[in-house]
Amino acid sequence: MKKFKWGIIGTGKIAHTFATALKHDENAQLCGVASRTAEKAESFAKEFGFEKSYGSYKEFAEQSDAEIVYIATPMSSHFDDAVLCLENGKNVLCEKSLTVHAKETKELLALAEKKGLFFMEAMWMKCRPVYRKMKEWIASGQIGEIEYIKADFSNYISYDPNDRLFREDCGGGCLLDLGVYPMTLAHDLLGMPDEIVYDAHMRYGVDISNSIRLRYKNGAFVSADNGFEVQLSNNAVISGSKGYIILGNWFHCTCEGTLYSKDGKEIERFVHPDAINGYEYEVEEVHSCLEKGLKESPLIPHSDTIAVMELMDRLRELSR
Ligand SMILES: NC(=O)c1ccc[n+]([C@@H]2O[C@H](COP(=O)([O-])OP(=O)(O)OC[C@H]3O[C@@H](n4cnc5c(N)ncnc54)[C@H](OP(=O)(O)O)[C@@H]3O)[C@@H](O)[C@H]2O)c1
Repeated sequence: MKKFKWGIIGTGKIAHTFATALKHDENAQLCGVASRTAEKAESFAKEFGFEKSYGSYKEFAEQSDAEIVYIATPMSSHFDDAVLCLENGKNVLCEKSLTVHAKETKELLALAEKKGLFFMEAMWMKCRPVYRKMKEWIASGQIGEIEYIKADFSNYISYDPNDRLFREDCGGGCLLDLGVYPMTLAHDLLGMPDEIVYDAHMRYGVDISNSIRLRYKNGAFVSADNGFEVQLSNNAVISGSKGYIILGNWFHCTCEGTLYSKDGKEIERFVHPDAINGYEYEVEEVHSCLEKGLKESPLIPHSDTIAVMELMDRLRELSR
């Protein structure tokens, strides 16, 4: 496989985690990093070994040789940052949630298509081995028809007025930050729901917790609680007519999943420790797509990204 020239936009928390995985991938060339502050870009470049650093996103997009850019800015900036990259001929891996509303997601993906560029939402959960094993178990009929999914994502997070999570202007709130994982799981396994019940606790202009129920015509339902106010175990249960699957705590990034029969007998336990920090699978998926000349990942198709954004729009409509 050839080496792919990577760039990163934004030097916050997840950019550090992602760059750690990138640094270990022998097919990744660390080409350039951009920050709104030249000193931050320089220090990030030094820490991870990027060849060049840029004190503005625009300068990076226009001048860097990077062919694939990881966008790690707050939700509210993804649209502008991604347009900047696409207009400058760069493929994009953009953090979740892709945008604040589905309308901008559709515009972005249409632009990528028009430009003939690769675009992937950084929904790393779907690239992870345990998630893929769960899909295999389901596809081979091991749990029968899915009747119920329980998937929560809620942690104690102290209020900080500067944190993007609590800032409306940054696309804050727990639905876009955490709820996107349970909603992606639900949509991936059951599609679009027929009925929705949504209850959000709004504070500081954002949802700091929410409780979601999705109902499907065939009787299946989904329960998901998300937020910054309480600690939940954050595992996931996918229960079907013939058996069930439990994904370990922090289901979206767990290294462990177990398949059970209906009477609770363990059929298979799948354990896959991360070689680096769990983001390596997403990097590998991007490389595999670029190598094959694909414009979207079969693991994270554009249609799924759009559908989940539409679902999250529908949820928020209910809290108005
Ligand atoms: N996949 C995952 O596991 C995961 C985990 C956490 C977060 N995320 C996603 O990654 C994105 C970034 O999250 P994060 O936790 O890394 O956030 P963060 O620590 O706040 O970093 C965001 C970075 O974006 C840049 N930025 C641009 N405009 C900004 C603005 N108006 N306010 C603040 N920062 C701005 C800043 O970089 P410069 O100062 O260098 O320009 C900042 O360091 C979000 O979309 C989030 O949902 C994904």
